[in-house]
Amino acid sequence: KLGVKGLVDAAAGGSVAIPKIFIRPADELAQDLELARTSLRVPVIDLNGVDDNGSSLREEAVEQVKQASEKWGFFRVINHGIPMKVLQEMLNGVREFNEKDVEMKKDYYSRDPEKLVKFNSNYDLYLSRSANWRDTLVIDMLNTYDVDPQYLPSVCRNATLDYLNHLKKLVDTLFELLSEALGLETNHLKLLECEKGRSLACNYYPACPMPEQTLGISKHTDASFITVLLQDEVGGLQVLHRNQWVDVEPIPGALIVNIGDLLQILSNDKFKSVIHRALGNASRTRTSVACFVDGVSTPAKVYGPIEELITKESSQMYTDFTVRDYIIKFFSRGLDEKSGLNHV
Ligand code: SIN
Ligand code: FE2
Repeated sequence: KLGVKGLVDAAAGGSVAIPKIFIRPADELAQDLELARTSLRVPVIDLNGVDDNGSSLREEAVEQVKQASEKWGFFRVINHGIPMKVLQEMLNGVREFNEKDVEMKKDYYSRDPEKLVKFNSNYDLYLSRSANWRDTLVIDMLNTYDVDPQYLPSVCRNATLDYLNHLKKLVDTLFELLSEALGLETNHLKLLECEKGRSLACNYYPACPMPEQTLGISKHTDASFITVLLQDEVGGLQVLHRNQWVDVEPIPGALIVNIGDLLQILSNDKFKSVIHRALGNASRTRTSVACFVDGVSTPAKVYGPIEELITKESSQMYTDFTVRDYIIKFFSRGLDEKSGLNHV
């Protein structure tokens, strides 16, 4: 047996026995699910024309990025320049990998943090109260695009390289827009090298016979500067907004962007790293790919709130820290515990 998919396969079409570890404690489900659904929607931002510096389209996009990052910590982008085919092939590649024989996946199975490409479920298994109904292929990149193709599973190798290649430009653009949205010089965040260091989490959520008692992924915030998320058409991602869970409905061709803990700190709390989770689905398997832009390639680098954002009205909210300190702290707790953000 291997991963969550292994449990499903073992049932061979019969009823899947769900180990207790996957069943959520009542406080995480009952009360959560009672929260009223809202009609509010995660903002959609059109990136058409943003490459034209100083244009009104760019100014509009910057304003929308600002509003969304302050109020939601989440937004969706359309016309972002990555062809639909590239997105679809990335998702297909992840699905195909997960649906390969156990024999083949076994070679990638590992919990060794030193390994750059590894397949597992629930890295936080021994720290969290319950387990997530998903398997993940993790691809860590020491430098922005530094992934040795030979380590990638061949079923998704080309699709992954192609997707990463396209993401490069989009992430650059996002960092420019985010810098301007903070009232900083266009290249401010890039010069801090926040756009370096990436990790790709290729997630596979098998259909789950008890979606009301389990979760695809428990509520959490991301340990990144930003995360760019590609999801298929199934849906299940929810964002906590004004104490309500808001569904992030799939839009074909759109990508989801969210602010992570590190950018919340750099922005001195102007931008919010917001809690989100993914529900399971009773009948459909779901695939998503999260790209964490996370600075892991520069572990000794010191970050803290950006000087220009510390003012009389908004005093310094965090002390300085290294990426290494932050990462050690993040991984020493269960994903479902409260965030690793520590105010001054
Ligand atoms: C995550 O936040 O880890 C992934 C969310 C998703 O799969 O939609
Ligand atoms: Fe996340």
